[in-house]
Amino acid sequence: MAAPSDAAKRAAARFAVGRFVRPGRTLGLGTGSTAAEAIREIRATYPTTPFDCVASSRATEELARELGLGVRPLRADDRFDLMLDGADEVSPSLDLTKGGGGALFREKLLARRAAHLVILVDPSKLVRALGERAAVPIEVVPFARPVVARDLERAGYAVALRGRPGGPPFVTDNGNEILDLTPPRPLVDPGRTDRELRELPGVVETGLFVGLAERVIVGSPDGAVEERLAPGRAA
Ligand code: A5P
Repeated sequence: MAAPSDAAKRAAARFAVGRFVRPGRTLGLGTGSTAAEAIREIRATYPTTPFDCVASSRATEELARELGLGVRPLRADDRFDLMLDGADEVSPSLDLTKGGGGALFREKLLARRAAHLVILVDPSKLVRALGERAAVPIEVVPFARPVVARDLERAGYAVALRGRPGGPPFVTDNGNEILDLTPPRPLVDPGRTDRELRELPGVVETGLFVGLAERVIVGSPDGAVEERLAPGRAA
């Protein structure tokens, strides 16, 4: 039987596709189970329409290709009309923790180039402050990882190298590793934490998405949705 969160993700995906996706729009495709719902929903709504898409991971690229959506490499001048993606945490000001699927670098790269970043979640992702419920992932160059991990432990983070216990580390689509950081307390200023983490040599990107999401669609298991708009964004 499907989990209630699956129905909630589907409700958010259905709403977002119906409201924001139109033929001819250039799309950034997110990664994860909720983004996958959105991609399937695009195909279900527009079974034969060609779309111009860039995927934020190999997994998403594979899914989109299977469904016959046109996926192409990123171009220097790319600007997406819309990006649909999931998140691991959403704060009241719509800042996000992302990267549970390990695609945070490409997700952020595409999100920065999207006119509208629409995030789809189930209610379990809503938090009072980032770092409250999910670890903050950072993508790290493997050579630098021991130094980055030690510096962050000294700064008070609990640091876990992503991967199966006893197995090799998880490797991102960019050939890097992921450190999952548990901060000593939920983040008061995620923008500052993002900047501080990115200053460490070897840190490629963080899963803190600050000021990027335009709106968040919260789906419920009963099919209802709530739309949240970032402060200062027009409806
Ligand atoms: C992928 O790297 C992530 O940023 C996902 O968007 C995030 O982990 C949410 O995933 P689900 O939609 O599977 O919960």
